[in-house]
Amino acid sequence: MFVEMHPYIGLIEAIKQRRAARAFKSNTIPEAILQEILELAVQAPSGFNLQPWRFIVVKEQKNKDKLQACAFNQRQVGEAPVMLICCGDRRVKQRENITSVIQLGEAQGIMTPSYANYMRANIPEFFTNHPSFETMETWTNRHTMIAVAYMMIVAKSFGVDSCPMEGFNTQQIKQAFQIPEEVDICCLLALGYAAEPLKQYGGRFPINQVCFQETYNQPLQPNT
Ligand SMILES: Cc1cc2nc3c(=O)[nH]c(=O)nc-3n(C[C@H](O)[C@H](O)[C@H](O)COP(=O)(O)O)c2cc1C
Repeated sequence: MFVEMHPYIGLIEAIKQRRAARAFKSNTIPEAILQEILELAVQAPSGFNLQPWRFIVVKEQKNKDKLQACAFNQRQVGEAPVMLICCGDRRVKQRENITSVIQLGEAQGIMTPSYANYMRANIPEFFTNHPSFETMETWTNRHTMIAVAYMMIVAKSFGVDSCPMEGFNTQQIKQAFQIPEEVDICCLLALGYAAEPLKQYGGRFPINQVCFQETYNQPLQPNT
């Protein structure tokens, strides 16, 4: 399934070096690398393995121009050789998708009849009464963004820069790219090779500002 390709940059350096590129060179991304980025992104985890992420790969200039017009004219959209419209499909809770996930598990030899029955019985119930999210879009975004995060890091490890984007008009994109009503647009992701001026690191809050111990706001105590 995976192409034998060696990343150019290791995981830690890829995380450290990734920046949200604001300008791109016109160089195309080799198809094998793009395929590998997509293959690795969809290894992301998801609740019940339902895999709600869907990605529209946009390469044709006329379509990138159309997308740019739906994204407040941000230049990365027209410049990047590849734009992804990163979506989450709310219909994955339906019986056909549950059956597909069960079949996947069976093909891997890990699906027992009792777990298959558990999935058939509990997934519809989970989405009817779900204490951990208010709308199904929260749920699709939660999952799609994990795959997008994988994608940005994997891309960087292959020397490919990216820019995640929330500056867009959902309704305009849905209409222009024939996205069904039950599908949410989580973000756009530009992929390519960053051009000058390169975006500089803006810094991050220290972990003792954003991580707590045991309860919210309780200072982190790494040695306990
Ligand atoms: C969900 C999300 C939406 C974003 N939307 C945009 C956007 O519309 N346009 C843009 O230029 N950058 C966008 N960014 C990039 C952020 O500005 C950038 O990640 C942040 O400033 C930190 O910089 P760095 O990623 O280079 O470390 C977005 C980032 C995220 C995670």
